[in-house]
Amino acid sequence: MRQKIVAGNWKLNLLQKEARTLTKALVKHTIENAPNAEVVLCVPHLYLEKGNNWTYGSSIKISAQDCSQHSSGAFTGEVAARQISSVGATYVLIGHSERREYFKEDATLLTAKIKQALESGLTPILCCGESLEVRKKETHVEFVSGQLTQVFGNLDNTEIASLVIAYEPIWAIGTGETATPEQAQSMHQAIRNVVQVSTTEKIANEIRILYGGSVKPNTAPELFGQSDIDGGLVGGASLNVDDFCKIIDAA
Ligand code: PGA
Repeated sequence: MRQKIVAGNWKLNLLQKEARTLTKALVKHTIENAPNAEVVLCVPHLYLEKGNNWTYGSSIKISAQDCSQHSSGAFTGEVAARQISSVGATYVLIGHSERREYFKEDATLLTAKIKQALESGLTPILCCGESLEVRKKETHVEFVSGQLTQVFGNLDNTEIASLVIAYEPIWAIGTGETATPEQAQSMHQAIRNVVQVSTTEKIANEIRILYGGSVKPNTAPELFGQSDIDGGLVGGASLNVDDFCKIIDAA
């Protein structure tokens, strides 16, 4: 049985007071309702340590949204995975489509970041997903498989088994347009197959694959009900306490 994960990706949002109020309300909800899912908050670096303090006594985990490919040294402005880990965070997003697009992050860079994360004891949430253009050409399965195999090629089975994967079709991110449960399930099945071909059946059965892209309280139950969907990576709706609690409870 794979435990579901509901991860909120705050992106570049929330001032400290707002972040604290939201987190405190989520802590209250998770303590009172003991959700089945593991709840993860992907916060700006600035709130990693505070987030860890705010969630003290609850089961909520804190994640960074990115990390450096370097472990230390003269890289002004960067934040290392081992620094993220040293303030109590346990997850890190790697290769979100916004990082791939705006910061030109490629497979070589993402592999280096994953290695840093794993060496630091963080669980990487590796993001993948196709653009609308690719989806229209109906080459999305090949495209996403390629994104994953390019990274898997430089990881061993133990490293791949330590990942969480998030499938996020770019055309569904922040657009209000969610992939249908059937579209998402069929891609998740294909992703699990890529993991199996790259590693073993056991690893493929155990790896958790999250869906992201306009997950909302009304779409979450059906999405999370699909056999290969192990929870969600939630952007916009994770900024609203009522919506995010409903999504947590749907998992
Ligand atoms: P969204 O974002 O839920 O606002 O579409 C998801 C994400 O980018 O992780």
